[in-house]
Amino acid sequence: MRSLLNRFRSSRKLSPGNTHGNGVRKLDVMDGPPKNADESAAIIEELSQTFHVSLAQMKTISEQLKKEMQKGLNQEGATVAMIPTFVSGRPTGEEKGRYLALDLGGTFLRVCEVDLCGNKEFKIRQKKYKVPLSLKEGDFCDLCDFIAECLGSFIADLNPGGSILSTSSTHDHSTTTAGSSSSSSSSSSSSNDSTTNVNNNSNAAPSSHHESTVQPEQDKYQLGFTFSFPVFQTSINRGVLKQWTKGYSCTNSVHKDVVEMLQEAFLRKQVPVNIAAIVNDTVGTLMALAYSVPETAIGVILGTGTNACYYEQMKDIKKWDGGETATDEMVINTEWGAFDCERLCLPLTIHDRKVDRESLRPRQQMFEKMISGMYLGEISRNVILHLIDRHILFDGYSSNDLNKAYCFDTSYMSSIELDDTPDLQETRHILEDVLSIPSTSLTDRQLVKHVCKMVGLRAARLSACGLAAVLKQSNLVSAGCTIGIDGSLFEHYPDFESNMMQALKELFGPYIAYKVKLSLARDGSGLGAAIIAMLAHKNARRGDIPTTTSSPSSTSVAEEQPQQDVQQYQKEASVTENHKDEKSIKENGIQEQQEQVDTKKEIQDTNGDGKVPHQENNQKREQDAADVIEEVPKKQDETK
Ligand code: GLC
Repeated sequence: MRSLLNRFRSSRKLSPGNTHGNGVRKLDVMDGPPKNADESAAIIEELSQTFHVSLAQMKTISEQLKKEMQKGLNQEGATVAMIPTFVSGRPTGEEKGRYLALDLGGTFLRVCEVDLCGNKEFKIRQKKYKVPLSLKEGDFCDLCDFIAECLGSFIADLNPGGSILSTSSTHDHSTTTAGSSSSSSSSSSSSNDSTTNVNNNSNAAPSSHHESTVQPEQDKYQLGFTFSFPVFQTSINRGVLKQWTKGYSCTNSVHKDVVEMLQEAFLRKQVPVNIAAIVNDTVGTLMALAYSVPETAIGVILGTGTNACYYEQMKDIKKWDGGETATDEMVINTEWGAFDCERLCLPLTIHDRKVDRESLRPRQQMFEKMISGMYLGEISRNVILHLIDRHILFDGYSSNDLNKAYCFDTSYMSSIELDDTPDLQETRHILEDVLSIPSTSLTDRQLVKHVCKMVGLRAARLSACGLAAVLKQSNLVSAGCTIGIDGSLFEHYPDFESNMMQALKELFGPYIAYKVKLSLARDGSGLGAAIIAMLAHKNARRGDIPTTTSSPSSTSVAEEQPQQDVQQYQKEASVTENHKDEKSIKENGIQEQQEQVDTKKEIQDTNGDGKVPHQENNQKREQDAADVIEEVPKKQDETK
């Protein structure tokens, strides 16, 4: 029987001319478990070729991305959306004030209270809440209610006595100038505390029942809402959801104003908060690092999803019809994850095509699907299954666990790549104990390790193509800059950063390493959102505040502020004491997590961003999940 099988395999032996979908020559490797070192080396070589992104390919990809970015700047509806964010200029690090921030990411909802202390210093108190899968796929109103409940609970923790926390009015010692809105050409800024502007375009009013009464400013929390999905902004706090990405697919939300819907949930749940700004996570990351590192010019996320933002000259944003702005530049949210859904240049393998076809949104977010933590594990799983089907791995047998889509977490890849034990014990643990493969040989484990290495390396090189396009578009290759990067791929994935830098050196020459600094901005979007909320809030209340001379390079945010009905909020004390909300959070099965100071210890991650979950860690986390709010005083540039 065995020899029949082998003869059958021999008859399928591929000629040297056969190629993979991506044009890479498939080696003349006979299927069946590698019998000797040569065969094993040949399979390793085949995998290396399949996932290699050559210098020529990197050049083509980065050039094509730059072209697509330009298309997106010229017209609405381009594949790479290039969304103007209404944020321009750069923070100085002297901003002061206390603001709230919400960060709805691929995996967690993070709620933060941020104290901007000036002198590039800040304090953050934060909690993370796991977003249940049911809410990611349910009615968006339910997700908004969940967010409101988490926020209400967080505020209650901050104010155990029930008195409302005064926000900017007591903590913001800075002075503010008369800023400009889009209808004014005067400079918009704070005098000494900010060089960032928020363009206050006034667009459509928020829903009418919010308009009747305005709650006194001192009684409201001001919040920056980091919403890590493609939103077409019409002002700093107005934004229509274009589509969901990553694992979300909520109903009743696409083409709707997410700020308005969340603000309504705050009203429903009596949470006394005003959403001063909606912020993409890339923009939050950029602002956060720029608060302490002024050379920061680009913000990037390499986590569950991937995206980048950068400063663009207003004159080059041809589609901009928002009127005059305070400065001649604005941060653009590229939404590069959508790049090449036309499949013109990305080196897709059969495995990528399969992952795409079986995903929630086929033929969308192609670049993201080859790079981000949400998909890398799934690509690797498909490669492993393919090798099983060719009788190269595990004697041709998979397991029920490994057969489940998305069961091979990207964090497993990290752990396997980090496994340097002689017989690959950690890899064995993942394959045999976690994924129930009955037994694995050392050769099996070495091959699996190589699969992970190749898929991870390709992701890093493709990310570098993205950076190259943005660096060129913003003319920063020679000038140099700091790139603020957040996301667990960048932070935790072995060699991701050095592989990216290596690819940049191939593209631009070794000097690029001296010009461009890749800098971790861990959890930066909360801080960044708070900075932007501060600026938006200041702009909104400009009329009430004495003005001083504006600084020449101020930062601004274009804003329209939803007004809240004060009567809805007259029960502040009952909000802060509202244990019912807290209880309903627990009843909803919300997993509340204390933020870790060292995020390397924060390893639970069902979307594939962190480390392999171990039982002890889960138990420890459950203990840690008590309602403790941790204060983390730090400077952003000290995070790495
Ligand atoms: C997805 C979202 C984008 C976000 C990125 C990183 O690509 O569309 O808005 O910035 O994920 O979280």
